[in-house]
Amino acid sequence: MAEENRRVALITGAAGGLGSAVAQLLASSGHDLALVDVREDALAVLVSDLAGSGARLETLPAELSNTSECERVVTETIARLGKVDILVNAAAILARRELEDVTASSFDEVFHINARAPFFLMRAVMPDMAKRNWGRIVNITSVGVYQGGEKMTSAPYEATKGAVSVFTKMFAKYGASQGILVNTVCPGAMKTRMILEGTPPDILQAIAEVTPLKRMAEPIEVARMIAWLCGDENSYATGATFDIVGGWVMP
Ligand SMILES: NC(=O)c1ccc[n+]([C@@H]2O[C@H](COP(=O)([O-])OP(=O)(O)OC[C@H]3O[C@@H](n4cnc5c(N)ncnc54)[C@H](O)[C@@H]3O)[C@@H](O)[C@H]2O)c1
Repeated sequence: MAEENRRVALITGAAGGLGSAVAQLLASSGHDLALVDVREDALAVLVSDLAGSGARLETLPAELSNTSECERVVTETIARLGKVDILVNAAAILARRELEDVTASSFDEVFHINARAPFFLMRAVMPDMAKRNWGRIVNITSVGVYQGGEKMTSAPYEATKGAVSVFTKMFAKYGASQGILVNTVCPGAMKTRMILEGTPPDILQAIAEVTPLKRMAEPIEVARMIAWLCGDENSYATGATFDIVGGWVMP
């Protein structure tokens, strides 16, 4: 595909389980990628994994709790790859804490990364998408938006996902006249380090048991839905939430 016809996707949390699966799918389907994550070493591993894809790959290590970094990665993507057509906001932290251990700064940290960063990233990419009257943005929430988290230890995290859910709807209305479609994907439990690290095996087993499909999702299963939302085949979905939860919740 000629370089000027290739779409450019900016993926945050690109070194993570879900972000890297999205990167893999978009790289193999003719996209160029700006890969953003705070873990520089893991980004380098991802780039070597994607080396044979033919995609132009730019790594942008960034600490997205810093708003100026959110704006910088958008500016850098446009400088290096010419534009931004697609934004996938997959960076987040779970940051479980006992209720009595939550501090103002731990609360702020999870909000800054999970909710504030997507807001400023969306605002920053939209003027460039509007120039071509085409854009796709996907945010990621969690089943806690529907039913609250299972334990108080994830209360701030789940609340950030509620905020992201509202941002999706508001940016979808705002972007509609500019050809920018904004949606949310809500995964159930996915096999990524966010949940595999720090969750006892019996709890992981219990999550699988309450899920009608009796297992956690592979990240690639969720990534396929995101990739679809980022393409031309999605021409009418905006402001919507797409659940991919193995039947765990049926809101
Ligand atoms: N794993 C699950 O079960 C699950 C369930 C529901 C929703 N989600 C959501 O899916 C998305 C992807 O998460 P994942 O499961 O792939 O987890 P993950 O931990 O594998 O990936 C998250 C990535 O975000 C990056 N990140 C964290 N803080 C950052 C910061 N300050 N600046 C830049 N990058 C930062 C991490 O380095 C990591 O690579 C997240 O929004 C998460 O909340 C995950």
